Formats: sequence, C-alpha cells, structure tokens
Amino acid sequence: MKAILGLVAAATAAQAARFVNASIDDTSPQIVYTQQPFIRCTPSTCGSDSTARLFNGTSTTTSGMIIIPFVGNAVYVYLGVEGTINFNLDGVLHGVLTGSDSNDVSLAFYEPGLTNSKHVLTIYPSTSAGSEIVQFDYILYAHQLPSKHIGAIVGGVVGGLAFMAILGKTALWLMRRRRQRRLSIRGVRLGDDWPDKPSLQLDGVLPQKPKQAM
Ligand SMILES: *[C@@H]1O[C@H](CO)[C@@H](O)[C@H](O)[C@H]1NC(C)=O
Ligand SMILES: *[C@@H]1O[C@H](CO)[C@@H](O)[C@H](O)[C@H]1NC(C)=O
Repeated sequence: MKAILGLVAAATAAQAARFVNASIDDTSPQIVYTQQPFIRCTPSTCGSDSTARLFNGTSTTTSGMIIIPFVGNAVYVYLGVEGTINFNLDGVLHGVLTGSDSNDVSLAFYEPGLTNSKHVLTIYPSTSAGSEIVQFDYILYAHQLPSKHIGAIVGGVVGGLAFMAILGKTALWLMRRRRQRRLSIRGVRLGDDWPDKPSLQLDGVLPQKPKQAM
C-alpha cells in the first residue's frame, strides 16, 4: 500500500510540474519600498504616452531598496536604472546592473534556476551615496500550477486498486469454492467407504482420522 501511495505521489508531482508566469506590478501591496518613492507613474500623473509601454500603465521611481517576496522557481525583473544597482535573492548577490537612463525600462535581471520555493528579491543601490534612480515596472515569476489531471490520475489509481481488490476477492472465492467441492467429493468417496455413515455424504466434511495434506 505504501509503495502504491508513493507511486501516486510521484505521478502527482510529475503532473503538477506545470509552471506559468505570474506578475507582480509595482503597485502591488506585496512590494515593500523602504523609501518613499519619488514618482508613481500612472496614465493620469505621467501621461498615457509615457505609461503606455509600462506594465498595467504604472511604474514607481525610487532610490531606496525594493523588497519583493514571491513563490516560484524563476524571476524576471523589468526596470530602468540610472547608476548601479544590485539584485539579491534570499540575501545572496545574484546580479549587478549599471544603466544611464531610468526611463529605459526593460528586462534588467533574471534568474531562471531557483528551487521552487519562497524567495525574497531585493533591489538596492550599489553605493551608499544613494544617487541611483530606479524606475521599477514589474516582475514576472514562474509559479507552479496545480494540475487539472491530478484528479484523473488519482481516480485512475483508486479505480485500478478497487478493480484489483475485486479481482483478488473473486479469485479467493473461486479457490475456496473449488476446495470445498474437493472436500465434498472426498466426503462422497469416504462416504462410500463407510456406507453405514451416510451423513458424511451430506455434510461433505472430512473425518479427522485419515489426515491428508490438501
Ligand atoms: C516567463 O517569462 C520569461 C520572460 O519572458 C520567459 O523567458 C519564460 O520562458 C517564461 N516562463 C514560463 C513558464 O512561461
Ligand atoms: C492594474 O491596475 C489596476 C488599477 O489601475 C489594478 O486594479 C489591477 O490590479 C492592476 N493589475 C495588475 C495585474 O497588477
């Protein structure tokens, strides 16, 4: 049973390994800005001409650290930078980027080879001077989707188990029936040997005396 459960878990894991990109926009409450942003661009504050190229029409411009938690196995960061900034994942430096125009918003950093778990991305100025300007747009992260097929697989396995159980029971019942028939046949024969004990024929029960291996 344990082996079968293990198989079910393995099949489930294999099927569930479907990833889709989810987004976190700069306006998401999930993001922590450690400094009050300079500018928050929306179509109404910055003009729809300049925000048309931004994800969902918004961006946040800051010189402070940006902290973004997410759950997944890959991350893609879209921003523009003036100066040099660092990208940390779970407290470890993963990338450095130098730019000259914070309006040049594009894919600035990505890390596709993460373990599928909780992560914390931090984006912060490389120097303590804090003269860097980051126009942060959004991130994408590869997020695991639960599979629609899990139900079908579990159903199939459970159905198969039930079928096997029924098959086993049927086989057992057939074997028992055959054994009982053999017993009664012997009973008949023994009954022939003891014609004065006709009950043996009716009961089909083996007498104890001639102990035989089945
Ligand atoms: C997520 O987006 C990145 C960047 O566009 C792309 O390279 C990657 O293949 C995408 N991943 C998935 C699972 O769609
Ligand atoms: C896009 O912006 C609207 C508000 O302008 C917000 O309600 C919505 O959640 C945003 N979508 C994403 C994907 O961030």
